[in-house]
Amino acid sequence: MGFMIAIDGPAAAGKGTLSRQVAEAYGFHHLDTGLTYRATAKALLDAGLPLDDEKVAEKMAQEVDLMGLDRDILSAHAIGEAASRIAVMPAVRRALVEAQRSFSRKEPGTVLDGRDIGTVVCPDAPVKLYVTASAEVRAHRRHDEIVAKGAEADYDAIFAEVKTRDDRDMGRADSPLKPAPDAHLLDTSEMSIEAAFRAAKAIIDAALKTK
Ligand code: CDP
Ligand code: CDP
Repeated sequence: MGFMIAIDGPAAAGKGTLSRQVAEAYGFHHLDTGLTYRATAKALLDAGLPLDDEKVAEKMAQEVDLMGLDRDILSAHAIGEAASRIAVMPAVRRALVEAQRSFSRKEPGTVLDGRDIGTVVCPDAPVKLYVTASAEVRAHRRHDEIVAKGAEADYDAIFAEVKTRDDRDMGRADSPLKPAPDAHLLDTSEMSIEAAFRAAKAIIDAALKTK
């Protein structure tokens, strides 16, 4: 079994950016678990199937190929919205968590990011980071990302969406978003991407020394 790093936090906190940098720096495999929920949602949408039938969604979740997850294809807004709806279903979570756990055991190490990695998927991970930032900062980040792509963006609408997503992620009965008791909190509201990486690296290096 490899060395596991669990990174959780709310939407647009900087989990993905940090996870990719950490995986690259340590030569570990990376899985953005949000993409597994998005791939399940996209398969349902493409097939014209309902998003509220747990049995149907579970079947789709069982067929998700972790090696074939394409960030660009899955980034569409409608897919994220649908993903957050099917992510409340226990049968969907069970199927995806099983696939995520088997990925997490790869050698020499893995970085998984999502909402429930430290609490449910990899509760024994020696490093758990809970990356967060204020809702305002996160909405600004999403806004700037869209504008950078040359598209129009309405800050107030994005802020409202960030809040709705938080409520859904933190309020669901199965695996709600919350820091694991032993997670290191990393509030990036006033941190650059580089500063967040340095803070994470110090925590990971300390854990690797005591391995
Ligand atoms: O994966 P998650 O939704 O948590 O966030 P992300 O996609 O890694 O980051 C959202 C946006 O915030 C990206 O455009 C990052 O470049 C930016 N970001 C930032 O400005 N400052 C940070 N400390 C972290 C991320
Ligand atoms: O679009 P956003 O960056 O907020 O989310 P994402 O990380 O791409 O994940 C899409 C949806 O899957 C989120 O709304 C979460 O509710 C859900 N998710 C989850 O429930 N558990 C995870 N480990 C990862 C994502």
